[in-house]
Amino acid sequence: MKIERPRGTRDFLPDEMERRREIERKMRKIAESFGYREVMTPTFEHLELFTRKSGEGIVEEMYVFKDKSGRDLALRPELTAPVMRMFVNECSVMPRPLRFYYFANCFRYERPQKGRYREFWQFGVELIGSKSYLADAEVIILADKILKEVGVKFSLEIGHVGIMRHLLKPVGEEKASKIMRLIDKEDREGLERYLEEIRVEGDLREKIFSLVELKGDESVIDEAKEIVDYDFSYLERLSSLLRDVGVDFILNLGIARGLDYYTGVVFECYAEGLGAQKQVCGGGSYELSSLFGGPVTPSTGFAIGFDRVCEVCRIEEKKRDVVAVISFKGLESHAFRVASKLRDAGITAVVDVMERNLKKQMSFANEIGAKYAVIIAPEEVKEGKVAIKNLETQEQVVIAEGEMLKLLKFGE
Ligand code: HAM
Repeated sequence: MKIERPRGTRDFLPDEMERRREIERKMRKIAESFGYREVMTPTFEHLELFTRKSGEGIVEEMYVFKDKSGRDLALRPELTAPVMRMFVNECSVMPRPLRFYYFANCFRYERPQKGRYREFWQFGVELIGSKSYLADAEVIILADKILKEVGVKFSLEIGHVGIMRHLLKPVGEEKASKIMRLIDKEDREGLERYLEEIRVEGDLREKIFSLVELKGDESVIDEAKEIVDYDFSYLERLSSLLRDVGVDFILNLGIARGLDYYTGVVFECYAEGLGAQKQVCGGGSYELSSLFGGPVTPSTGFAIGFDRVCEVCRIEEKKRDVVAVISFKGLESHAFRVASKLRDAGITAVVDVMERNLKKQMSFANEIGAKYAVIIAPEEVKEGKVAIKNLETQEQVVIAEGEMLKLLKFGE
């Protein structure tokens, strides 16, 4: 009986894998051009790392298990908390700000659907140690650039959870977090019910709903000033800088984010053509360092949902040209040696490992789309030569083995 793969997970065949690697290469290159360097953390962590602040939503969705010593562990649902744990434990003397990026798999026990998986990949960055709006500007510019360069059509929305949190101060932090979660889920009915339950009425209730609705250009800041007494200069400076450098965005003061650790600016990117799971990037500023035993360290970052990006972006895989080394019976070691020479020159060379006859080796070479066949035959071997057949033009030439590289021509 066949064994199915677990729900919400995926297999990737070579064509798809090559395409994904190509997209990943582009993302890495851009992050590195901004001075970000790659980090990696373990696939599983102590459960406590995520229960301290990531929020109920994430905790409910986690893959949690006990190891043989009875420790509570969890597969990482995201990388911001792990990276900040690593920062606190290992990076105390590194010059600020730190610029880290990662590309890694994450695990969330969610209801699987298109674009929503139980194992998925994030390409993300964390910019650690600056409290300036310039840090938020940098990561937003970077996210925008990556998504544009890989050909995703998207809209960028920027908000600020500090404003709503300030408004919610009278209800206390815990209730505020629950309210933020309901806002994030766009569960208006649930929000109405909850506000009633905790007796948030009248003016404050009206203000919460008005703030959530505020979406548009910078004029929404003026409207927000009517609702809440807050210092909007951070958001104003950020908006103005982003306009100056040509980043297209709208302000959305209803963005609450699904994770609890955000403190200030937050942003999300929504891609065209993805249906319900259209959020391809999410991020913002947060403070987790002090929660993990380090000094207060304002940080900001984002994570791109790599699988969702792969679904909508236009990048094609780079096809690698292949040379099939075909040999007569008894000349296998010769074939292995020639193949090795080709590989050393950077060419992909495959040999026969099926002990097939020459005809079958040749049809296999055609089936896998090899560009050339290098044929090892007794006559030529005696003279130190090989035959090279161009499988596109069917032309065949015999040439000294030492010269063969000159004849193999590959397009870019
Ligand atoms: P997040 O919004 O939870 O943020 O996840 C980031 C992105 O991961 C989402 O925008 C989405 O594209 C993708 N994603 C999330 N869940 C799934 C899923 N089940 N299947 C496929 N893709 C998914 C974070 O994780 C934060 N750590 C981002 C961050 C970094 N904030 C600051 N620094």
